[in-house]
Amino acid sequence: ETVDWDPEQAGKGEYDHFMLKEITEQPTALAQAIEGRIDPTSGRIGLSAFEPGSFEAIDSVQFVACGTSYHAALYGSLALNQAGVQATALLANEYSVAAPPVDETTLVIAVTQSGETADTLNALRQATAEGARTLTVTNVVGSTAAREADDALFIRAGPEIGVAATKTFSSQAVILTLLGHRIATDLRGEPSADLESLLPALESMPSRIHELLEHSDAEAIAEQYRDSRSYFFIGRGLGYPVALEGALKFKEITYEHAEGFAAGELKHGPLALVTPETPVFAIFTGQEDEKTLKNAEEARTRGAPVIAVCPDGHPAVEAADEHLSIPETDSDLAGLFANVQLQLLSYYAADLLDRPIDKPRNLAKSVTVE
Ligand code: G6P
Repeated sequence: ETVDWDPEQAGKGEYDHFMLKEITEQPTALAQAIEGRIDPTSGRIGLSAFEPGSFEAIDSVQFVACGTSYHAALYGSLALNQAGVQATALLANEYSVAAPPVDETTLVIAVTQSGETADTLNALRQATAEGARTLTVTNVVGSTAAREADDALFIRAGPEIGVAATKTFSSQAVILTLLGHRIATDLRGEPSADLESLLPALESMPSRIHELLEHSDAEAIAEQYRDSRSYFFIGRGLGYPVALEGALKFKEITYEHAEGFAAGELKHGPLALVTPETPVFAIFTGQEDEKTLKNAEEARTRGAPVIAVCPDGHPAVEAADEHLSIPETDSDLAGLFANVQLQLLSYYAADLLDRPIDKPRNLAKSVTVE
C-alpha cells in the first residue's frame, strides 16, 4: 500500500501555521483513512491487509504508544472494551517495567504517527521477543515500526509538519475504531449490531468536520478565557481520552497549565483546584452525559466557568456558560468532533499569546531517544 505525499502539500499555503493547515485538512485526511475500508454491500469492514477471520485467535489486545498517539490508543482500547474485547492501552515508556503478560493470543498494537519513537519501538520489540502477535498503526510507510511488526495499518493522513499532532490523532482514532470493530467481528463471527449506525456516521464525518471548522466559536472562547490560571478538560467514556488530548495540546502550544480528567474523578481531588479562574471544558459524547453534566455543575458551583462541548439543543448548553458545538452523531465518534473544537481552541489561545505554534519549545515531532 502506498500513499501519495505531494511536496506541494507540505507548504503552508494561505495559512499562518502548519497546525491550522493540518487541522483544516482533517476532512480530506479522514476521507483517505476510510476510503476502501468499508465494504458498501456487506457493510463489513474490509481492511485488505487482513484475511477474514484473521483475528479469530486473539484473546486480548494491548496498545503501546506515547503522547498524542497514547490518547488515540486509549480511545481504541475503550472502544474495544465496549465491544466486549479485552484491551488495554499502555504507555510505551512504562512497558519495560510493568508489561502485562503476553502470549501468541495477545495482539500488541503499536500506535505511532512517525513509526520511529524509541519508547514505542522498544515496547514493540519486547512484545515480539515475548511471543505476542504485533501490529503497527502508523502514518509513515516504510517506518521502523511498520517494518518490524507482523503487520502494518496505515492511517493515510499525509505529512504532518506541526510538532503538535492534530490530523493524525483523528485519523488514528478512526482507524482504531474500524480495527476494533473488525477484531470484534472476527471474534464473534458476525458484525456487531451497532456497526449499522457507525458506518453512515463515519461516511459523513469528513463533510461534518468541514462544517464544524467553518462555524467554530473556538477563537472567541480562547479570547474570552485568555487570562485564566489553568484550563481543565473533563470527559467520560470515549470523552476521557479526548479530555486528556485537549489538555496535552493546550499545554504543548500555549505553555499554559492544562489538565484532563475523567469527569467522575473531578470530585476525588482535582475539585480543590477549581476556582473562577479555571475554565472547565466539559466534553459530552452521549455516554452517561447526565453524570458528566452533574460533574460540570459541581465545578460551576465553585465558580468555574463551564464550556460545554456538545450538540446544539443538548441540556448542557443551558447549564453551561459557553458552548462549542458538535454535530449529533454516533457516540463512537462524537469525541473526535469535540477534539477538533479543542484543537482550534488551543491553536487560537497559543496564537493570542504569540507562541511559536509549529515548533513549541523543548518539544520534537519525533523523539528517537529513550
Ligand atoms: C513526540 C511528539 C508528540 C507525539 C509523540 C509520539 O513527543 O511531540 O506530538 O505524540 O512524540 O509520537 P509518535 O510518532 O510515536 O506518534
